[in-house]
Amino acid sequence: RIEPKLRPQRLDEYIGQEKAKQSLKIYIAAAKERHETLDHVLFYGPPGLGKTTLAGIIANEMGTKLRVTSGPAIEKPGDIASILKCLSEGDILFIDEIHRLNRQVEEYLYSAMEDFTMDIMIGKGAGARSIHLPLPHFTLIGATTRAGLLSAPLRDRFGVVHHLEYYTPSELQTIVLRSAEVLGVKIDENGAAEIARRSRGTPRLANRLLKRTRDIAQIRYDGEITEQVARAALDFLEVDRSGLDNLDRMILTTMIDKFGGGPVGLDTLAAAIGEDSGTIEDVYEPYLIKNGFLIRTPKGREVTDLAFSHLGLRR
Ligand code: ADE
Repeated sequence: RIEPKLRPQRLDEYIGQEKAKQSLKIYIAAAKERHETLDHVLFYGPPGLGKTTLAGIIANEMGTKLRVTSGPAIEKPGDIASILKCLSEGDILFIDEIHRLNRQVEEYLYSAMEDFTMDIMIGKGAGARSIHLPLPHFTLIGATTRAGLLSAPLRDRFGVVHHLEYYTPSELQTIVLRSAEVLGVKIDENGAAEIARRSRGTPRLANRLLKRTRDIAQIRYDGEITEQVARAALDFLEVDRSGLDNLDRMILTTMIDKFGGGPVGLDTLAAAIGEDSGTIEDVYEPYLIKNGFLIRTPKGREVTDLAFSHLGLRR
């Protein structure tokens, strides 16, 4: 049996990110009314908040095709040239992790984005010459964890820029109930609320925890996800009452045990944990900061009193 689709296909089915959703609704309707392509769109924010999902929805709403690639997959100008060459009028090109494009490829994109042309080299050596090729009008949708990682010239070529925010527990509860319906899982409101509270504001995680909780409910209980079943399952999955996972807790305990609660520099902390500093900064830290466990100071990162009490420790 094929997995049913959890990803919404239409803007009206999409829950949360109200600002981005309302803006996109207008820009899509306006572009369609003018029979034009949508301006290039940049989404930034932590992973799992719906950047790829929104790209798919935009393609559906515009009635066009979506082509998906990622920054690290495009190594040479020739790679981006062959992707662009294969696009049709109105297509959407989604580049995930767009901050990881190399300089040469990035510079190649400028004219493609700006006036839908590209220059390609024909021949070799003394006989080599460059020809100017028109491209179909397309919409580039870029996704990155932080807009600050993009060079200014690339960032400036996006006409629509949206920061995706962490979802509220109530939005996540609605998403969990919708996903449970799609998957055919029995769940009550309180069971969904418990999964939502522990999903660190992230739909991708909420859907993953829902699936694992479904497995546990099916094998250890009667199959229905109630609050009690969800609690037991999430404890088993080592996601705590605040939605922190093992690495979140390791960041906080390392800061407390090895650095007296901070301040400690990001690279020092990353080395102590054995994790990539970019991952800590883009994936873990934003949620810890947003929920008051961690603060950024000019001298480095510091844990808060809330972190101490959450971990059952004293200053
Ligand atoms: N599944 C994952 N993200 C979603 C969202 N934002 N709305 C509805 N369903 C989703």
